[in-house]
Amino acid sequence: MRVGVLTGGGDCPGLNAVIRAVVRKGERHHQDTFVGFRDGWKGVVQNITMPLDVERCRGILPRGGTILGSSRTNPYKIEDGPAKAKQTIAELGVDALVAIGGEDTLGVANKLHQEGVNVVGVPKTIDNDLSGTEVTFGFDTAVQIAVDAIDRLHTTAESHDRVLVCEVMGRHAGWIAAHAGIAGGAAVILVPEREIDIDAVAESLIQRHQTGRYASIVVVAEGAQPKEGSFVLTSGELDAFGHVQLGGIGEVLAKEIKRRTGFDTRVTVLGHVQRGGTPTAFDRVLATRFGIAAIDAVHDGAYGSMVALRAGAIVCVPIAEAVAQLKTVDPELLEIADVFAG
Ligand code: F6P
Repeated sequence: MRVGVLTGGGDCPGLNAVIRAVVRKGERHHQDTFVGFRDGWKGVVQNITMPLDVERCRGILPRGGTILGSSRTNPYKIEDGPAKAKQTIAELGVDALVAIGGEDTLGVANKLHQEGVNVVGVPKTIDNDLSGTEVTFGFDTAVQIAVDAIDRLHTTAESHDRVLVCEVMGRHAGWIAAHAGIAGGAAVILVPEREIDIDAVAESLIQRHQTGRYASIVVVAEGAQPKEGSFVLTSGELDAFGHVQLGGIGEVLAKEIKRRTGFDTRVTVLGHVQRGGTPTAFDRVLATRFGIAAIDAVHDGAYGSMVALRAGAIVCVPIAEAVAQLKTVDPELLEIADVFAG
């Protein structure tokens, strides 16, 4: 078969490991040939490709980013975008697509599948907010990077009796904040699933500092929102999928904490550091398992499905199910975090 591969949305450690596994099993086991589409759906709409074979995948397993490039192009926001995508697929003689992405990229995959395109999805996002799978690759790496940073913030916070706010990624869900906050021993963890009660945050820090601890780490997900009427966040530009560009909550939060407590409070925004660099061993293995399962799903004709991790096993679930709603943080995890608050 001739199989097209694309990576869309924000990049994520482990993308190259998926590509490598798809190509390796496809070429060596199924005798497939591959087309690499550049920059996500943009490459399919505009017919921008690169050669993709086992030789071109050598050495990429530990490399972050994606050799195919990525973008947030939404064909459904481009005039005749879906028709152009289908034309490219027909012109290149592509029998099936492996689309590696999060809710946006897979949302497009689902729509194109409904229009007759043969697509198999692979779940990617450091945010871990995609339904249908217990975990997405890239999440473990992002959490580890955040925990390493929080460990370092602890020692400098203690030396200076400071509150250090650490802003992590997580647009709609606070998985990174919850895991990194619990693993890093944060005094406060703030996530999009719960509005920020700034008075309660200040009060818990004041209480904590009365017990002889003068340093605190506050972990906040970039998408966390203040309780109405407490403080205001300015919103940024929208992308092609209508998502607002985030960033800024950490800065505002640090100011509000300082204003209410008088504690010396600073902010560290981890930003894209969480998405760059080499994937953890866990993510390399998960990405490899996903890639193998995806090319096998293509050969099983399991179009419209996404490979997923459930109870330790790799299974196929409908893409439609995965993109129907976001997977937010399990309330039980937040209750665990609450035990260590303050
Ligand atoms: O891919 C998910 C994510 O990393 C979010 O956590 C974050 O809000 C967003 O991407 C940032 O996107 P960009 O790199 O396009 O600014």
